[in-house]
Amino acid sequence: MGRVVVFAGSNSKNSINKELATFAASLLNNQEVKVLDLNDYPLPLYGVDIEAEIEFPENAIKFNEELADSDAIIVSLAEHNGSYTAVFKNLIDWVSRKDKKIFKEKPMLLLATSPGGRGGASVLATAKNTFPHFGADIKASFSLPSFMNNFEGGKIVDAEALKELKEAVQQLESAL
Ligand SMILES: Cc1cc2nc3c(=O)[nH]c(=O)nc-3n(C[C@H](O)[C@H](O)[C@H](O)COP(=O)(O)O)c2cc1C
Repeated sequence: MGRVVVFAGSNSKNSINKELATFAASLLNNQEVKVLDLNDYPLPLYGVDIEAEIEFPENAIKFNEELADSDAIIVSLAEHNGSYTAVFKNLIDWVSRKDKKIFKEKPMLLLATSPGGRGGASVLATAKNTFPHFGADIKASFSLPSFMNNFEGGKIVDAEALKELKEAVQQLESAL
C-alpha cells in the first residue's frame, strides 16, 4: 500500500480543485490517502530579504516533509490569470529553498479544473513543462473543463471525462 499525498494549488475554502483531487484519490485501490489543505500551511510572502531575516518557516519544512514521506502525489492546480495561484507559487518557492527537487521524483498525477471551458489548460501546460525540472515524475495529466456542469455530488458526471480520469489514475497507480 502506497501513501498518496493529495492537494489543490488553491487556498479557497470551497476549492473545486480540492474536490477534483479528492475525487481522483477516491478512484485509487487500496492506497493510504492524505489530503492536505494549503490553508494549514500559512507562509510569509517569499523574498530573498525576508529569507535572510527570519528563521526558515516551519510550514515550508512541514510541507516539504509531507512530499518526502509520500509514495505518490496528486495535485490539482487552480488557474489565476493563466498561471499558478499566488499561494501555490509562494509555497513552492519556499519549498524549493529547502530542496530544488520540490517533488522528490515521486510519481505524480497532475490535474486542473476551472469553471471555464479551458479547464485550467494554461496552468496545466506550464506545470507539465516545468514540474519535471523540479523533480516531478508526471505519470498522467487531466483537465476537467466547465466544472459546474461536469462535476456533481462529489464526482464527475460526464462519462467521457470520467473514463479519461480513471485511466489517468490507473497510470499513477501502476507506478505504486
Ligand atoms: C484572480 C482570479 C483569476 C482567475 N483567472 C482564471 C483564469 O485565468 N482561467 C480560468 O479558467 N479561471 C480563472 N479564474 C477562475 C477560477 O478558475 C475559479 O475561481 C476556480 O474556482 C479556482 O479554483 P479553486 O476553486 O480550486 O480555487 C480566476 C479567478 C480569480 C479569483
